[in-house]
Amino acid sequence: MLNKIEVAKNSYCVGKIDDRDVPFHRLMLTKGTTYNAYLLDTDKATLIDTVDISFGMEFVKHLETIMDLQKLQYVVINHVEPDHAGAIGALMNKAKNAIIVTTELGKKFLIGMFKIKEDRFHIIRDGETLDIGGKTLQFFETPFLHTEETMVTYCIEDKILYPCDQFSTHIANYELFNDLAKEDITEDFKVYYKLIMHPHRPYVRAMIDKIKNLEINMICPSHGYVLRKDVQKYIDLYDELSQVELSTDKKALIVFSSMTGNTSKVAQGIKEGLVEMGVETNVVNIKSADLNTILDLAKEASAIIIGSSTKYGDMIGNIEDTIKEIIKLDLSEKLVTAFGSYGWSGEAIEIINDYLRNTNATLLDTSYMIKATGDDHIKLPLRVNFAPEEQMKAQCVDTGIAIGELLVK
Ligand code: FEO
Repeated sequence: MLNKIEVAKNSYCVGKIDDRDVPFHRLMLTKGTTYNAYLLDTDKATLIDTVDISFGMEFVKHLETIMDLQKLQYVVINHVEPDHAGAIGALMNKAKNAIIVTTELGKKFLIGMFKIKEDRFHIIRDGETLDIGGKTLQFFETPFLHTEETMVTYCIEDKILYPCDQFSTHIANYELFNDLAKEDITEDFKVYYKLIMHPHRPYVRAMIDKIKNLEINMICPSHGYVLRKDVQKYIDLYDELSQVELSTDKKALIVFSSMTGNTSKVAQGIKEGLVEMGVETNVVNIKSADLNTILDLAKEASAIIIGSSTKYGDMIGNIEDTIKEIIKLDLSEKLVTAFGSYGWSGEAIEIINDYLRNTNATLLDTSYMIKATGDDHIKLPLRVNFAPEEQMKAQCVDTGIAIGELLVK
């Protein structure tokens, strides 16, 4: 069932209620869900998000019954997953004057998914505003909540936050507002947070930092209830649940050999991310440590991360001898992965990976990370061409954070 319920003057929820059992992230949502889209019927009519792709045509037909689609000026896409951007192809065909407002990455993904023309996008930068004729929208990039391109939208005049997946619940409800809910939704809200947002909690903290000075009277998410009562309680729950407590029992070992210092920089980046997640991390340059010390650290580590530069198609220094000793240990409860800086083909990284693949440890590779984290931005083994420049340095830190998330889960 599609709805049109006023959330503020000239602003309506026009989403879809899906009260079936809904398959979701290898789970079944037995309470169903909703796909909330919002129409801000201003002088420059604006739609915020759409609905699931399976209801795309139905949604566009519904919109046609409540407005002249030629008057639609903007379609804000906070998040490109098909349960929110699913109607965009059909919609852009009908709403000939509409422009999609999204992040640079959002544009890239939408072009890939729906073959939308380049000139139908307006790219926003963090904090930018957009006058939609009677209301002003402000956009904040909130990457990895829960995919890389995500952003949230804030209506300054209405004091409403439109955060798409964030602050959602999976409950197919007909009453829309949380103060009208027949039962306390707090547990459902927490379950949703833990399933979707918690794996990315450093980014939840960054998001909270961005919105903390906004006056928010209502949160209009894209699944479940609109939060118009106890709004701060729900923001505080994200704040509280995303606090990373220092892990006292999980340790990591990064052991490496480095020819020019570049692999050492990669190691330091990974360590930075692990430490951010509260994981005590020892970084050992093979040149300056004896084998027994390394093996002792390896025994007590929950993650062993091994790196080498590549020279003449192979590892350098005596790291291969060390690897041969490490893999004699019981690694059954440990996570392992490889990394390294390289100039041409980086064979050393792959050779280390081969050693690790043949142990009883859990090998962290790209496939494993996609399944564990739900996105593909962590590529393992971590291969860095020459020195890690700014973007690659961030990738090293993100890798450490991702491994840390697995350890403190
Ligand atoms: Fe509700 Fe990430 O889609």
